[in-house]
Amino acid sequence: MQPHQPLAPVQDYPRSDMELGGIKPKALRPEEKSSKCLVYVLAIMVIQGTVLLIFGTIFLRATTPGFEFGSVRVQNLKYRTNSSSPWFNFTLVTSISIENTNFGDFRFDNTTGTVWCGPVVVGEFKVPTGRAQARTTERLYVSVDVGSLGLPNTTGLSSNISNSGFLELISHAKLSGKLNIMNIVKRTMHPELNCIIKLDFTGGSVHDLQCD
Ligand SMILES: *[C@@H]1O[C@H](CO)[C@@H](O)[C@H](O)[C@H]1NC(C)=O
Ligand SMILES: *[C@@H]1O[C@H](CO)[C@@H](O)[C@H](O)[C@H]1NC(C)=O
Ligand SMILES: *[C@@H]1O[C@H](CO)[C@@H](O)[C@H](O)[C@H]1NC(C)=O
Ligand SMILES: *[C@@H]1O[C@H](CO)[C@@H](O)[C@H](O)[C@H]1NC(C)=O
Ligand SMILES: *[C@@H]1O[C@H](CO)[C@@H](O)[C@H](O)[C@H]1NC(C)=O
Repeated sequence: MQPHQPLAPVQDYPRSDMELGGIKPKALRPEEKSSKCLVYVLAIMVIQGTVLLIFGTIFLRATTPGFEFGSVRVQNLKYRTNSSSPWFNFTLVTSISIENTNFGDFRFDNTTGTVWCGPVVVGEFKVPTGRAQARTTERLYVSVDVGSLGLPNTTGLSSNISNSGFLELISHAKLSGKLNIMNIVKRTMHPELNCIIKLDFTGGSVHDLQCD
């Protein structure tokens, strides 16, 4: 047996269309093949990266949920402003909204919110432990008893109310909760409620409600 004996030549029977067209398929050299391969791999990687990026920016983006009063009503308003020691007493019936725009649940602990008149706390409310599901707005109905009992000096209050007829209250609360997006993104967040409630005493209603 001879070394380097060539294999029996394979007989080439060109197909008829090739014969007619006279076109021979260009054989790829090995380098060309591997560089094409590289291009494909790179293209797939870029596409994968883009898909992941889009997925990440849309679904995994963590935004602090909104936390504010949806509405506020005044009930059982009692007040006296014309005396030397004016006072007021009423209940704020509120709906609190926790707007979760994330693609994951937000679970929060109970907390205590406050209502201020000037530098003094005139009312407190409790926000119970809860959960705002993914892409929903959780609504809680909370009533707050507000009274001037804690105000040390209501002289300024008296003149404010008799001058403008309005009483300005500021409400504040801070939640502490965990956002969990598909077990990939887990983050502790602290949404804050900051609202200014302007009460119309003579009308016994809320004149204005501003939250930020
Ligand atoms: C304050 O006004 C009420 C009615 O709104 C009246 O009954 C009361 O006597 C007044 N008090 C004073 C100190 O003027
Ligand atoms: C306000 O209301 C509460 C509860 O109804 C009562 O205990 C308190 O004495 C009232 N305050 C005034 C100044 O009337
Ligand atoms: C949350 O609830 C627990 C049990 O009811 C209570 O001890 C705690 O003071 C509450 N926390 C706040 C901030 O209200
Ligand atoms: C109460 O406030 C008024 C004006 O806001 C002030 O003139 C008065 O001195 C204050 N009284 C006390 C006891 O602080
Ligand atoms: C009275 O009005 C003044 C000015 O608008 C404000 O600074 C002050 O806090 C008000 N006092 C009360 C008790 O609402």
